[in-house]
Amino acid sequence: MTDIPNGTAQEQTFYEQVGGEETFRRLVHRFYQGVAEDPLLRPMYPEEDLGPAEERLALFLMQYWGGPRTYSDNRGHPRLRMRHAPFIVDRAAHDAWLRHMRVAVDELQLPAEQERQLWDYLAYAAASMVNAEG
Ligand code: HEM
Repeated sequence: MTDIPNGTAQEQTFYEQVGGEETFRRLVHRFYQGVAEDPLLRPMYPEEDLGPAEERLALFLMQYWGGPRTYSDNRGHPRLRMRHAPFIVDRAAHDAWLRHMRVAVDELQLPAEQERQLWDYLAYAAASMVNAEG
């Protein structure tokens, strides 16, 4: 489900409705500010610089919501569960990830219906990424 572009059958994509690239960049930038301070999540990221990870997540979300397909041009098919297999995504990691996302989503101050759509997806996707007990 995480791999299917959303909103492609609408006249205006969700990506466009919420403000395009700028909105997704703000979301993901704020999210990674939280990750940078998180004692559980920060050590999971292999690179010292979180910038490239921020770029990948922003491009993925833009593509998912009907924006440019740059993510797949660069990275191929998302296969997100497989790409998370090297990391222990347990309940605690899931909760921390969503907690930082919640702050980032709140700060976008989207209209209620769009906020709900975005949040429902993120919560569903995070649950589907869990690959370890605990
Ligand atoms: C549930 C908790 C999650 C944890 C702990 C987690 C952690 C990580 C880590 C450690 C990486 C490697 C950093 C990198 O190289 O980019 C990563 C990559 C990535 N994550 Fe997550 N993630 C979670 C959920 C999600 C969700 C829900 C999504 C999508 C909505 C997502 C999308 C991505 C993407 C697109 C990448 C880069 C994949 C690539 O192209 O290599 N992650 N994640």
